[in-house]
Amino acid sequence: MTGHEEQKNVTDLEQQPLIDNQPTHISLFPRRTYALRHIVLAYCAGLLSALLYWSSFRSYSTALPFCSVDPVIAGRAGSTEVHNYPPPSPTNAFPSLFPSNVGYAGPTPTGAEPALVATAPSYPIHTGAPHLLSPEALKNDTKRKFDIFRHWGNLSPWFTVDRGAFGVDAGPEPPAGCRVTGLHLLHRHGARYPTGSSSYGAPALFSDGLNSAERWRASGQLEFLNDWTYKLGEEILTPFGRQQLFDLGVSMRMKYGFLLQNFTETSTLPVFRTESQDRMLSSALNFALGFFGPSLEGQYQQLITIEAHGFNNTLAPSKTCPNGRDHTKGERATPFVREWVEIYLQGALERLQPQITGMQLSVEHVYSMQQLCAYETIAIGYSKFCELFTEDEWHGFDYSVDLNFWYNHAFGSPTTRALGIGYIQELLARLTHTPISLHNSTTNATLDDNSATFPLGQSLYVDATHDTVVLNVITALNLSNFAVDGPLPSDHIPKNRAFKTSHLAPFATNMQFQLLSCDYTHDPQIRIILNDGVVPLGSVHGCPGDEPHGLCPVPIFANAVRGTVGKTDWTWACLGDWEIPEGHGWNTTTGEPPLSPART
Ligand SMILES: *[C@@H]1O[C@H](CO)[C@@H](O)[C@H](O)[C@H]1NC(C)=O
Ligand SMILES: *[C@@H]1O[C@H](CO)[C@@H](O)[C@H](O)[C@H]1NC(C)=O
Ligand SMILES: *[C@@H]1O[C@H](CO)[C@@H](O)[C@H](O)[C@H]1NC(C)=O
Ligand SMILES: *[C@@H]1O[C@H](CO)[C@@H](O)[C@H](O)[C@H]1NC(C)=O
Ligand SMILES: *[C@@H]1O[C@H](CO)[C@@H](O)[C@H](O)[C@H]1NC(C)=O
Ligand SMILES: *[C@@H]1O[C@H](CO)[C@@H](O)[C@H](O)[C@H]1NC(C)=O
Ligand SMILES: *[C@@H]1O[C@H](CO)[C@@H](O)[C@H](O)[C@H]1NC(C)=O
Repeated sequence: MTGHEEQKNVTDLEQQPLIDNQPTHISLFPRRTYALRHIVLAYCAGLLSALLYWSSFRSYSTALPFCSVDPVIAGRAGSTEVHNYPPPSPTNAFPSLFPSNVGYAGPTPTGAEPALVATAPSYPIHTGAPHLLSPEALKNDTKRKFDIFRHWGNLSPWFTVDRGAFGVDAGPEPPAGCRVTGLHLLHRHGARYPTGSSSYGAPALFSDGLNSAERWRASGQLEFLNDWTYKLGEEILTPFGRQQLFDLGVSMRMKYGFLLQNFTETSTLPVFRTESQDRMLSSALNFALGFFGPSLEGQYQQLITIEAHGFNNTLAPSKTCPNGRDHTKGERATPFVREWVEIYLQGALERLQPQITGMQLSVEHVYSMQQLCAYETIAIGYSKFCELFTEDEWHGFDYSVDLNFWYNHAFGSPTTRALGIGYIQELLARLTHTPISLHNSTTNATLDDNSATFPLGQSLYVDATHDTVVLNVITALNLSNFAVDGPLPSDHIPKNRAFKTSHLAPFATNMQFQLLSCDYTHDPQIRIILNDGVVPLGSVHGCPGDEPHGLCPVPIFANAVRGTVGKTDWTWACLGDWEIPEGHGWNTTTGEPPLSPART
């Protein structure tokens, strides 16, 4: 992390194209360098005009806070090739000639709401990633059916996990005698560019390495590098990510559209929540467009909570949790990841180094190349980097991400339970129709104590968040069947491990808290369906461990959650002055810090 910070600073000044080795390079686009600021502004302009076009969210057009971009972040993405769309002052823009509503819409009668979970004989599965291409090299071995897209950890596009993947042999459709009465959906944003923080082996690291090498030449499998440019932006959704959220919105409307009937009956609108961060707002709007279609106006209310340091936000909880961001406390994964990468990529390093002269490759560079495979694919559809690695090396990559998330954001991080508890308090409030009594974690009283911004008793809730938060919530709920292999070893992959980030927190991951009413019991039931896999609730105190469909009575579930809320000391975990020994000296598998002195 510190090692390449220096390199970064060098390239931060202005991005240099990779010129040295490209005598015959002909580019379709002039080699200009744009600042990231331009892209973000262009994106904002695009979003603005789109919003205007749908003539909904009018108020947003004057209040898109992220569109005032601090020039300080310019160029940090390291892009050596950047395009600038839309043009800042198009000469043929005549908004008055292109009104968004000219009337004459024709007849618009609506039909019945779809209710696929109730009406179809089975539940539709989500496979593949339209528009993305997997490497030719891995495709040829048709016998093994290896799907590279499922081995990118949190960078995998979400897919329906195999039936029984989490240990309950049931589908998401309601069991016989039960019907769905409500849904609390927690989902992640779609595919994005790399984030701005320079983590171990970040994709820009390899590009920076090339940029700072004096003279280099690549051959063999690496020959493509001679013409290669770094094309990735930062933080925002990719076009594919946009589609993922639109599709998720369509799919949820198909399955659960009937839940809207409750809103019509009670003359209310659903409130969906997301955060101010660009990709979060963009994800939520794309979801809404899939779910409701344009125009969004009058169909629902979108709450945008502030995602920034110092703001209480259950969907971005690390912003008020300094211990959670501390590399000796809550975010302690890097040494584990580094150790594992040194092992599984040694062979690749030895294979690739002879194919490039003039640049000394490190194992971290090679890891960065694997990251580039995933990031280029989800951003531009195909990546030559994917061809460089074997199936085993992709299994290794997948596991490196698991180590990262286990020790930074899930069962192996001492701040995870505290980070997840805010959402759990909100879930409890919604399940019991009881406002939160005390704001002592990441909940925001201004929003959560107001029934307009935090309504209780709705049949449908949709919250957009991050991969880390989904894992925080899984940990805080004590869904410990995912933790059975912990603490995760950094020298080998546990056989048939239960903790797979690609299953738990891929792009557009979706966690359904499904509420059901069953003929055979008075109690309403709840179950958790994660990427179409039913999650066993036996570890949630009091829930039956052997329920064939993963059901738990709501009162029992709520009681267990209440117990967890009572036992979780957010202040101590996030602000307390505690220390833990390095590495395996602190082996939590429940996401907890050392006990506070007050409790010992
Ligand atoms: C994959 O198969 C195609 C068609 O048989 C062949 O042209 C190509 O070279 C093969 N690719 C690899 C990497 O083996
Ligand atoms: C709570 O949310 C409101 C509305 O977004 C915001 O103005 C306020 O600063 C937040 N309070 C805290 C403590 O984060
Ligand atoms: C924000 O969180 C802190 C810590 O839990 C709490 O003391 C404070 O009251 C919260 N503020 C609001 C507006 O909810
Ligand atoms: C939704 O409406 C139906 C029909 O009126 C009712 O049975 C059900 O309890 C309602 N559910 C919620 C969560 O309000
Ligand atoms: C969490 O799950 C484990 C394993 O099932 C169990 O031993 C423990 O009591 C649970 N903890 C809580 C707080 O429910
Ligand atoms: C935090 O508040 C909740 C009620 O919202 C309460 O149950 C819990 O005990 C409190 N936690 C601590 C550590 O005081
Ligand atoms: C933590 O777990 C690792 C791996 O299972 C083990 O080697 C180590 O001894 C454990 N450390 C402690 C303090 O229990």
